[in-house]
Amino acid sequence: MFPSDQTLPERLEQRGVSRRAFLNFCGVMAATLALPASYRTQIAEALTSVRRPVLIWRQFQDCAGNSESILRSPHPDVAEIVLETLAWNYHELIMAGSGEQAEAMSTQAVRDLKGKYIAVIEGAIPSGDQAAYCTIGGRSAVDIAREVAGNAAWTLAVGACAWDGGIVQQGPTGGEGVQDVVPGAKVVNLGGCPHNSANTVAVMVHYLTFGEMPALDQYNRPLFAYGDLIHDQCERRAYYDAGLFVEEWGDEGHRRGYCLYKMGCKGPSATYNCPNVRWNDGTSWPVEAGHNCIACASPGFWASMSPFYERLPNVPGFGADTTASTVGIAVIAGTAALMGAHAVGKAVQGGAARARFHDGPTPGAEGEVPSASGPMPSAEEATPSTSAPGSQSAGAPNPHPDPPGGNGGQDQD
Ligand code: SF4
Ligand code: F3S
Repeated sequence: MFPSDQTLPERLEQRGVSRRAFLNFCGVMAATLALPASYRTQIAEALTSVRRPVLIWRQFQDCAGNSESILRSPHPDVAEIVLETLAWNYHELIMAGSGEQAEAMSTQAVRDLKGKYIAVIEGAIPSGDQAAYCTIGGRSAVDIAREVAGNAAWTLAVGACAWDGGIVQQGPTGGEGVQDVVPGAKVVNLGGCPHNSANTVAVMVHYLTFGEMPALDQYNRPLFAYGDLIHDQCERRAYYDAGLFVEEWGDEGHRRGYCLYKMGCKGPSATYNCPNVRWNDGTSWPVEAGHNCIACASPGFWASMSPFYERLPNVPGFGADTTASTVGIAVIAGTAALMGAHAVGKAVQGGAARARFHDGPTPGAEGEVPSASGPMPSAEEATPSTSAPGSQSAGAPNPHPDPPGGNGGQDQD
């Protein structure tokens, strides 16, 4: 145990995490949140002074991939920072307790900290056949979710299943997302299969720093992570615009890194920041690794984006009467009409924002500057404002129109 008067940096230092690594982490969080690099200091001060808020993480009908995503950071110091910043009162994968004792702890925390803790829900919540398909300690997942999410200050629904039922929604259990099972709960949806833990941590850091959640889109997803088309941030975009495509797996175009649109890439119809934040501590992302995006962070993607290896229909200019060499020009025109200069700016910005936790200087990023005037939360009393500019406002309009061509017409070749 650490002495209670130790600060977070002191606790981290004792665990072998240097001050420099901590500040790098704060810089990466600022970049992920699309804040100027100068916010690194404010984030560091907030994390240093804030009392650790309680976090209750519940898993239901899931594969544990979202827990793995946040716990399997390749750099232990990052995981240490996350674990040390929050008081993890319940997480069945990492807690020592089990059985009735563990369940009692969860119930007790909900009762004692009503409206003051952060809940994280992983997995779908099976509501079919009187919620009989998932029970823990004799209680249904529906019952537990209503207790935990219904009394939380905020609930983070991590992964596709907790958001809208994910792949489980297709099965016989009646799997649903948190917002459907617990109407009225304040939910931030962090879709993805799994969620990118860098974004989830950034949401928590934003809450701890500014006392409120970041701005949300119409699906209650944070705009900083889900506001931009993957297509507009993709390093293969120049090949798309030039009409150079992979025609089959392993061909010359694949080896040269050409665009994967013809192999079924859903990047023109999907939003997420994985081209910039990336995965495995910023190592790579699916398209860079040579696989098409299957839009895993889009609503109902298991159904709406299948089949994963067939091309999106109705992308402007990409039809039977269009040659590969003209598609780029047509798409540029269509995209420009829809999005103006925003997309290009974001694509350039994406390169600047790309960051790693350890390599090179602490990155900065351009972007909207949210209000930093929210109260510095006492962890026990954090009651975030919902109206500060740049922070959460459920139901805010998506700044992006439908992607070029959408997903609703007949296929083209
Ligand atoms: Fe990148 Fe896919 Fe768009 Fe091609 S279609 S530019 S691979 S996101
Ligand atoms: Fe998912 Fe597509 Fe990114 S499949 S991880 S949103 S590249």
